[in-house]
Amino acid sequence: MDLYEYQARNVFTAHGVPTLPGITATTPDEAYEAAKQLLAHSDLLVVKAQVKTGGRGKAGGVKLARSAEEAKEKAAAVLGMDIKGHTVHTVLIAAGADIAEEYYFSILLDRAGRRHLAMCSKEGGMDIETLAAERPQALARIGLDPNIGIDANVAARILSDAGFDTESAQKIVPILVALWDTYRDEDATLVEVNPLVLTDDCTILALDGKVSLDDNAAFRHPHYAELVDQRTEDPREAQAKAAGLNYVRLNGDVGIIGNGAGLVMSTLDVVAMSGEDLGVKPANFLDIGGGASAKVMADGLSIVLGDEQVKSVFVNVFGGITACDQVAQGIVGALEALGAAATKPIVVRLDGNRVNEGRAILAHVNHPLVHMAETMDGAARLAAELAAK
Ligand SMILES: Nc1ncnc2c1ncn2[C@@H]1O[C@H](COP(=O)(O)OP(=O)(O)OP(=O)(O)O)[C@@H](O)[C@H]1O
Ligand SMILES: [Mg+2]
Repeated sequence: MDLYEYQARNVFTAHGVPTLPGITATTPDEAYEAAKQLLAHSDLLVVKAQVKTGGRGKAGGVKLARSAEEAKEKAAAVLGMDIKGHTVHTVLIAAGADIAEEYYFSILLDRAGRRHLAMCSKEGGMDIETLAAERPQALARIGLDPNIGIDANVAARILSDAGFDTESAQKIVPILVALWDTYRDEDATLVEVNPLVLTDDCTILALDGKVSLDDNAAFRHPHYAELVDQRTEDPREAQAKAAGLNYVRLNGDVGIIGNGAGLVMSTLDVVAMSGEDLGVKPANFLDIGGGASAKVMADGLSIVLGDEQVKSVFVNVFGGITACDQVAQGIVGALEALGAAATKPIVVRLDGNRVNEGRAILAHVNHPLVHMAETMDGAARLAAELAAK
């Protein structure tokens, strides 16, 4: 899960990373009130769009203000703005800094390199992607030992690699250590500060923050749940999460349900290939997992059938621990619960554990929407054709 900047700042503050005070607002009037409070401590304010995408400044989503009236005006301009397909529902009114220099720092999970990676540059600010592409030597990259992470020594090395002199480095070291603590303790996969600034009065501050949390670690962090923005969450993904299902929504027409991530991934591939000439694509990934019960199958099927973009469904189960009769009962149960509301064809390919029992259940019910298929390729083609109709 990606956090909004204001959430990232709260996480930073909790770990001792210095930021400037800020207050969120969802209306121009709230922005006015927030600005009045902040102006007691700072004569410069920034109005910042809170959207989970980069390049807000370039898109006009970051504006300076020097009075509460001006903050209100700027908030009115930014609220409702569309930044790369993200609507701005919230702005952060933050105290402004007098910036002397802007730096870049991040820690991320480098999957290709199978390691944690720190990146640092003296040239921070807006566009780190351009810097990385055009002048890679200006961006230091240091692989991290997970047992050490970033202690004072490692931080000093990162800063020296990035070209900081010893005196400036000394001031920044504790902040890099605190950012590593944030990354480790929150189970983050990304912690990025762009810009990390040196102010005119020689303090170092995180003026922006991007944090991505590892959803697989959510069980260790009950507070993750409060960070979810219900307004932007896909309702089907929320429903699937609540039912304990592994579901990702895509943009196609054929709903996919299978057991085991590998089988589901190859099912997506087969449907994408056999639907290519028909312009048909998979609508989702849904893994019901090993040993799924009839209830899990029924929950999964009703989520997929409830998706208006889905035109047909392909259930592809190779029963190992999962028993095909449970899957069949789940299909029958979901169809019974839906009654007349069920209108989409379902292609079912069952094999493996208790396959004969499973097929017998479906044959007995003989539901007009259920099509049995023998092979994975045949089933994929049939599901694609039914979706194209
Ligand atoms: N509190 C602040 N005080 C003064 N200037 C600021 C402040 N926050 C941001 N700025 C200025 O605005 C620029 C852009 O801000 P920020 O980094 O938050 O947005 P962005 O980089 O455009 O967005 P993103 O990080 O999503 O790409 C900064 O590089 C900095 O120059
Ligand atoms: Mg930024």
